[in-house]
Amino acid sequence: MSRIAVLPLAPKNGSPVPGLTSLYHKAYAGPYGDRRYPGNCSGELIKDLLLYYQPQRVLDPMTGSGTCADVCRELDVECVSFDIREGHDACSPASYAGLGQFDFVWLHPPYWRQKLYTTDPRDMSNAPNLLHFLYRYKKLLTNCRDVLTPGGRIAVLMGDYSDREAGFCPLVYHTQRICFELGLRQHDTQIVRFSHGASSSRKAYQSRFIPGLHDICTIVESPAAAIQAKVA
Ligand SMILES: C[S@@+](CC[C@H](N)C(=O)[O-])C[C@H]1O[C@@H](n2cnc3c(N)ncnc32)[C@H](O)[C@@H]1O
Repeated sequence: MSRIAVLPLAPKNGSPVPGLTSLYHKAYAGPYGDRRYPGNCSGELIKDLLLYYQPQRVLDPMTGSGTCADVCRELDVECVSFDIREGHDACSPASYAGLGQFDFVWLHPPYWRQKLYTTDPRDMSNAPNLLHFLYRYKKLLTNCRDVLTPGGRIAVLMGDYSDREAGFCPLVYHTQRICFELGLRQHDTQIVRFSHGASSSRKAYQSRFIPGLHDICTIVESPAAAIQAKVA
């Protein structure tokens, strides 16, 4: 099987992170988090986003193995992170009480029940159907929006998912839809992150389908920033 993909050239520009383009293809994840943790994501993408946006305070309300916190430690950026595994429900406003505001939120939720994280009914991977998952997803995004500084950003990493009962679930579409419903504004391109190292890539299936080899990072900014941009 060929592994060669020829990527388009990126134009030179004033970005402090020239390697950060709409096609994110770094095959190494960096020494962050724990690669054995289900759904662990690349710390390199988080690092490039932080170097690009240069936030002062970062929130990761779905820590997993702590990838985002590790990157923040390396870059010396303040980071608050928690997970349902320690009993903190990111879908409940109570979990954000007293945390203050953030100018960057890294969000890497479960892709519904593709992987089951805990048996806690508040865990989004435990949602009994897609409607309930989306109901919880909207609460999560609402809470993150409500702790954003004016001009603050949320970067959400999400992938589409094929469910054994519900069929194909366009979770990336729902991410954008919910963000827009909440008044969040998309300012930058979506980032297609190539899924190097996904466990599904090493499996063999009898059924026929088009393999999804990427997920999508959607970056949105606070409604306050959107209003400012309109007025200017
Ligand atoms: C895709 S994993 C995050 C992986 C992480 N980015 C890493 O690199 O290790 C999603 C995480 O969301 C957590 N989670 C699910 N529902 C939650 C909820 N309601 N509140 C907080 N965390 C939740 C799961 O326990 C899991 O650790």
